[in-house]
Amino acid sequence: MKIAVLGAGYVGLVSGACFADFGHEVVCIDKDPERVAMLMGGRVPIFEPGLDDMVARNQRDGRLSFTLDAAPAIAEADVVFIAVGTPSRRGDGRADLTYVFSAAQDIARAATGFTVVVTKSTVPVGTGDAVQRIIRDTRPEADVAVVSNPEFLREGAAIEDFKRPDRIVIGLEDERAREPMSEVYRPLFVNQAPVMFTGRRTAELIKYAANAFLATKITFINEMADLCEAVGGNVQEVARGIGLDNRIGGKFLHAGPGFGGSCFPKDTRALVETARESGAPTRLVEAVVAVNDQRKKRMAEKVVRACGGSVAGKTIAILGLTFKPNTDDMRESPALDVVHELQQAGATVRAHDPEGMEQAAKLMTGVLFCDSPYHCAEGADAVVLVTEWDTYRALDLDRLKTIVNVPVLVDLRNVYRRPEVERHGFTYADVGRGA
Ligand code: UGA
Repeated sequence: MKIAVLGAGYVGLVSGACFADFGHEVVCIDKDPERVAMLMGGRVPIFEPGLDDMVARNQRDGRLSFTLDAAPAIAEADVVFIAVGTPSRRGDGRADLTYVFSAAQDIARAATGFTVVVTKSTVPVGTGDAVQRIIRDTRPEADVAVVSNPEFLREGAAIEDFKRPDRIVIGLEDERAREPMSEVYRPLFVNQAPVMFTGRRTAELIKYAANAFLATKITFINEMADLCEAVGGNVQEVARGIGLDNRIGGKFLHAGPGFGGSCFPKDTRALVETARESGAPTRLVEAVVAVNDQRKKRMAEKVVRACGGSVAGKTIAILGLTFKPNTDDMRESPALDVVHELQQAGATVRAHDPEGMEQAAKLMTGVLFCDSPYHCAEGADAVVLVTEWDTYRALDLDRLKTIVNVPVLVDLRNVYRRPEVERHGFTYADVGRGA
């Protein structure tokens, strides 16, 4: 099968590489010359475990290529995926569809024969209809079927998620697209991945509903963590106690500094906007957005309290900057708020992250980036674990104690156990595990 993927960003690259790995012939198209040159030279511009190898292997075997030139690749393709960015629009939080619509025009101009056009980018309900309209308006004779095929992969586990998905959702209005779409995903049928065919609007909504539900789960357990702190309970045990109920499930119940990343914050805001506009406001999701935004800012207060009420003139060591481990992605990372609030309160911030410091340096000022967690902790009045990278899971606390100025550990991911940390002479603060 010949596949073209518009947009060699996160979703586009992972999908393109995985489709090629299935044996399809894939061309990834991007407008950014630097990115395309890098990819043609065999370098992958994002950090995702396993992706460089997969890209290199498929490139070498001639199944995966990269180009700036959209038209010939679209003309050749049986199926064209739209995997361009849909950033939050400044001001109103709605998804910015400029790139999706411009991709639709490119496809209209270049498609030859019957072509299935698939939106993989996360787009608000009704975008498939708009894409179809744009293609028809741009070139009425273009013969296309527009499909929605949302992506559910997680950064850091993207290849695994792509190859062993919980489900594949395919939303279509034109039956002619069913066969080619089954063909695209046939290699996954051996794993018995459930494929769900549904309407296009429903598929678009499934993506937002899934992310909003997961974000709600996280926010719920974060509020339970606050309650545990207030009344003296242990949120990890509450999570386990409710998660063992199959109707609830134990996943996405880790309390922490609030959700970040390129998906949950953007998608929950976009869902809220769509719902408001449609006259069916989602008050629950509105609350999730507000509670999470506030939580990220409030995490700094925990540090201030652990430092005895003020961080003015103090040095704080931040371990972990990315929104979660195994990524270099800093988008909407809780660390951004924590660092900003601490600096506002007069602290000097040092920081370490295994992969994210380059991206972080673009978004933070006045932070001293360090080359190891121990270097980071030098002279610190508190060490704050913000992202649960594996390398922070077994810190040598004795060594750490000789390096810091005051032995205070604020563990925003509940990685450590209180008795162990206190035995090494640290004051310890965590999230929702009582005193
Ligand atoms: C999320 C979804 O998990 C994917 O299914 C979806 O495809 C993707 O968004 C997307 O829409 O593209 P991702 O943003 O990569 O994936 O990361 P997650 O692992 O879901 O984590 C999101 C945030 O929630 C992180 O900040 C993480 O630390 C936080 N989180 C997650 C918690 O605080 N507690 C948890 O129990 C789980």
